[in-house]
Amino acid sequence: MNQDDMKKAAGWAALKYVEKGSIVGVGTGSTVNHFIDALETIKDDIKGAVSSSVASTEKLKSFGIEVFECNDVIKLDIYVDGADEINPQRHMIKGGGAALTREKIVAAISEKFICIVDDTKAVDVLGDFPLPVEVIPMARSYVAREIVKLGGDPAYREGVITDNGNVILDIYGLKITDPKALEERINAISGVVTVGLFAHRGADVIITGTPEGARIEE
Ligand code: 5RP
Repeated sequence: MNQDDMKKAAGWAALKYVEKGSIVGVGTGSTVNHFIDALETIKDDIKGAVSSSVASTEKLKSFGIEVFECNDVIKLDIYVDGADEINPQRHMIKGGGAALTREKIVAAISEKFICIVDDTKAVDVLGDFPLPVEVIPMARSYVAREIVKLGGDPAYREGVITDNGNVILDIYGLKITDPKALEERINAISGVVTVGLFAHRGADVIITGTPEGARIEE
C-alpha cells in the first residue's frame, strides 16, 4: 500500500461519522479529497457542507454537494480534515496546504474534529514539519523577526497567497514541547492571522490509514 492508498483508506473510513441530513465540515488536502470522493456516494443523504478552502468548495460543488457559508451555520456535528503532524496528545500541525485559518474557523464551530491521516503523520514531538503561520502581508518581516526571537527559523512561502489574501511563513527548527503555549505566543504577534498549531482545539477522533487499512482511535 502506498501513501496515497493509506490516505484513501482514512478518508473513506470517515464516512461512518456522517449523519443523515447533516451539514458536514470539510477540510482541505489530498486526504480530504478522498473523503470528498466518499461523500459523493451519499450526497443525496446529506444537506451539504461547510468548506475550509476554495479548492475543497470547488470539488464539493463539482459533485453537486451544496456548500453553505460558515456565517449561515451555527454548529456542525463533525469536521473532517487532515494534518501534517499529530502527536499522542492529539495536537496537530496543519496548513501545509495554506488553508489553516479557515480550517481553524470551521473546526471551532464543530463538535467533533475527525482527523484523517496516513501513518507517516504520527510523531512524538511536533516540529519536524515546518510550522505554517498565516500573516498579513505588510507584517511579514516584523513577524519573521519575532519568530527568530522564539528560536524558530522562518521561511517565506514564495508565490503563495492564501484564500484570505495573506502570505505564509513556514517555521523550521522547532521542537514543540508545549504546543498550547506556543500557539498562544505566536497568535499574539501583531500581524499574525493564525498559526497552524491546533493544540487548544485538537482532534477528537483519529483515523489513520495504515498498510493494514484504517485504524480508528476515539
Ligand atoms: C491544509 C492542511 C492539510 O490538512 C494538511 O496539509 C494535510 O494535507 P494532506 O492530506 O494533503 O497530506 O492542513 O492546509
